This record gives sequence, structure tokens and C-alpha cells, in this order.
Amino acid sequence: MIDPAFTLEKKTAIVVGAANGIGRATALAFAAAGARVACRDVEEPGAKATAAEIEQGGAQALPVHLDVTEGASCRAAVAATVQRFGGLDVLLYGAADSDRTATVLEMDEAAWDRVIRINLTGAFLMVKAAIPPHPGARRTARPRAP
Ligand SMILES: NC(=O)c1ccc[n+]([C@@H]2O[C@H](COP(=O)([O-])OP(=O)(O)OC[C@H]3O[C@@H](n4cnc5c(N)ncnc54)[C@H](O)[C@@H]3O)[C@@H](O)[C@H]2O)c1
Repeated sequence: MIDPAFTLEKKTAIVVGAANGIGRATALAFAAAGARVACRDVEEPGAKATAAEIEQGGAQALPVHLDVTEGASCRAAVAATVQRFGGLDVLLYGAADSDRTATVLEMDEAAWDRVIRINLTGAFLMVKAAIPPHPGARRTARPRAP
């Protein structure tokens, strides 16, 4: 339940992992709060379904395929969002993967590396892509310590 006083009017948000779970719920909540929402996911049909639901509610949405394991895909997702909506204000990272069936003893290194890449490195790559100067980027300066 989102606080009715919370507003994202005229803000643009990228929601990573928008096809399912927390990402999907957050994308819908951001749209309900007035945001334009770029719905990103490696699962493209799911991202499109979330975007369609947002547009049916009267808000703007942009579904785009994103694989957070690839830096180029992260940069392209940010660029497409800025091009479409003219800026970027909010980044929500909800991409995740896990092997719920395997214990530590059963899980091999490749599977471990993939989980780390999606759950951790992908967040780094998306933040890195979102922060560099690009047309329309808005930054908030951190206050200096007294
Ligand atoms: N759901 C809960 O109640 C809950 C509670 C606490 C913590 N968490 C944690 O929050 C995170 C998200 O949980 P969730 O339930 O929303 O997960 P989820 O599996 O429902 O959603 C994750 C999304 O990430 C996407 N994704 C996977 N690989 C990707 C990639 N390479 N590029 C782009 N997108 C990719 C998936 O397609 C999926 O849509 C997980 O780390 C989970 O452990 C969840």
C-alpha cells in the first residue's frame, strides 16, 4: 500500500525486473503515483504485460528487453529511457536469480557466478549506466559536511 501523499508526478523511473514479483508491483505502484515507467526485464513478454497494464491505467510506460549481465544492455536501457521520456529520476533494481533447489554442496561455481552477476553486479552496472552525464540527467548534490 503506497502512501497517498507520495507522488512521482512528472518523474521518470526505470524498474529493472518489472516482469515479476517486487519489480512488477513497484512498476505498477510508481505509475499509480504518477511516474512514467520504463519496464525492463530479460523476460520481455512479462515486461510488455506490465507496461500494458500501466498504459491501461492511463500512465505512460516503455517496455524494453534488458539483460543486466551485459553492461551494453544496461547502457542501452538507460539511453532508450532518456530518449523517450527526456530524463531519468528513479532507478529501482529488482532483478534477481537464484537456485532454490540446490544446496551449497550441489551448486557449482558457474551457477554461483551467474547469481552474483544478476543479483549484485547487475545493480552496479545499472547504477553506473544511470549516473554518467547524459542529456536530461538530473543529479542531486550531496550536502557538504559542516
Ligand atoms: N518476494 C519476496 O517476498 C522477497 C522478500 C525479500 C527479498 N526478496 C528478494 O528480492 C529480490 C526480487 O525478488 P522477486 O520475488 O521480485 O523475484 P522474481 O523472481 O519474482 O523477479 C525477478 C525478476 O528479475 C528478472 N531477471 C532475472 N535475470 C535477469 C537479467 N539477467 N536481466 C534482467 N532481469 C532479470 C526476472 O525475469 C524476474 O522478472 C530477490 O533477490 C529476492 O530474494 C524477495
